[in-house]
Amino acid sequence: MGRKLLLLAPVFALVFFGRFFPREIPDAAAAAADAAYPATALFVLGDSSVNCGDNTFFYPLLPLNFSSTFCNGSHHRLLPDLIAERMGLPPVTPFFGLNGTAAAMMRGVNFGSTPATIVSGVLDGWLRGYDRFLFQSLSQQVRQVFEILQVLQLELGASAARRAASSALFILSFGKDDYAALFSRGSESNRLAPKYGRRGFARLLVSRLIQAIRDLYDADVRRVAVMGVAPLGCAPRIVWEGAYGLGGRDCVEEVNEIVAEYNAKLSARLLRLNSELAGAEIVFCDVYGGMMEIIANPRIYGFKNVRDACCGVGRFGGMIGCLAQEMACTEPNSYVWWDLYSTTESANSLLANWSWSPSSESRQQLCKPIALQELASISDSEAL
Ligand SMILES: *[C@@H]1O[C@H](CO)[C@@H](O)[C@H](O)[C@H]1NC(C)=O
Ligand SMILES: *[C@@H]1O[C@H](CO)[C@@H](O)[C@H](O)[C@H]1NC(C)=O
Ligand SMILES: *[C@@H]1O[C@H](CO)[C@@H](O)[C@H](O)[C@H]1NC(C)=O
Ligand SMILES: *[C@@H]1O[C@H](CO)[C@@H](O)[C@H](O)[C@H]1NC(C)=O
Repeated sequence: MGRKLLLLAPVFALVFFGRFFPREIPDAAAAAADAAYPATALFVLGDSSVNCGDNTFFYPLLPLNFSSTFCNGSHHRLLPDLIAERMGLPPVTPFFGLNGTAAAMMRGVNFGSTPATIVSGVLDGWLRGYDRFLFQSLSQQVRQVFEILQVLQLELGASAARRAASSALFILSFGKDDYAALFSRGSESNRLAPKYGRRGFARLLVSRLIQAIRDLYDADVRRVAVMGVAPLGCAPRIVWEGAYGLGGRDCVEEVNEIVAEYNAKLSARLLRLNSELAGAEIVFCDVYGGMMEIIANPRIYGFKNVRDACCGVGRFGGMIGCLAQEMACTEPNSYVWWDLYSTTESANSLLANWSWSPSSESRQQLCKPIALQELASISDSEAL
């Protein structure tokens, strides 16, 4: 373990040192030429929808077969893991698990953190005050991307670093933890809702995400896929909280409406951004729509339970989340929800398939204007 820490020392040194180096003036012609490759790396930014909670400063201290209660080691794969597989890439390394070599960084990095919010100050309870140390919000993750790109620039030169940024596929998946915190009962976190109002909160989240994409674009990132937020009104936690008002329905509609409004705003804004940022290809993936399709037609997709958490305590498994794998249901594959707010791997697998390509076996296509497969394989330099 000590050896692992020693090996990691150089990456921290480089990462922090790299921050003080000015970026070179980009060479537009070189950037255009560099973009003419299919994506060979996946960079992931996001919240608990993309990371199981292992990507923290303490990562080197975790046993290699670390199995958090949330993700069950590598057994429970999340959307980006499944997309990486579709791209023919190895599992994406967590930021804090990098071994300090440029080679490892070039293969892609998962910056995702559990929890991670778009706006700071949403997290509550014991989490408040610690989020700076334990979790990386959107802006912290964007800073980590810059640090990685600067290390690549120092080690491989400006043109290789630019190529790494422009040819890689970037997935951003945020908002789930912002809304989960907002909806959680009896917490002061609701203070943000009155402050901004329901529409204002969505506007705030969307504008922060758009700004992050602009910042990434300025760092030569060109292929971006942004995932929408799932219908949290159907998540075991929200259903548990709203049970008294459900009247036999499986989802809390008011919550779903709020999330759907956010998704629609985000989608519209992203499509417009495509025309504002020359050479960028920005895609929105409607995870909400995909989940609703599954929840409405569970049998078609092999699910038996669309309401309860596979791993949780209390009614709907929505009172307390998954504390140990031993608590889990015996047939996780027949459940849509894994725990309070997270989906099972079988649900993730469908969402990944529907995001990757509009396959013949289903009419579902979650990503627009193009599917992720097309986004990852564009090799026309005019398009990028
Ligand atoms: C995890 O690693 C430890 C130490 O290497 C080992 O004792 C344990 O059996 C492993 N657990 C699993 C589930 O592989
Ligand atoms: C957790 O992972 C182990 C293998 O690593 C597997 O045998 C077990 O079924 C998994 N549990 C659930 C609930 O998926
Ligand atoms: C670092 O990781 C990369 C990619 O996983 C691997 O190819 C390389 O051998 C590793 N280097 C060291 C020094 O561990
Ligand atoms: C997703 O697609 C892969 C490859 O075609 C397939 O093996 C897998 O079963 C699909 N997943 C689901 C849940 O349909």
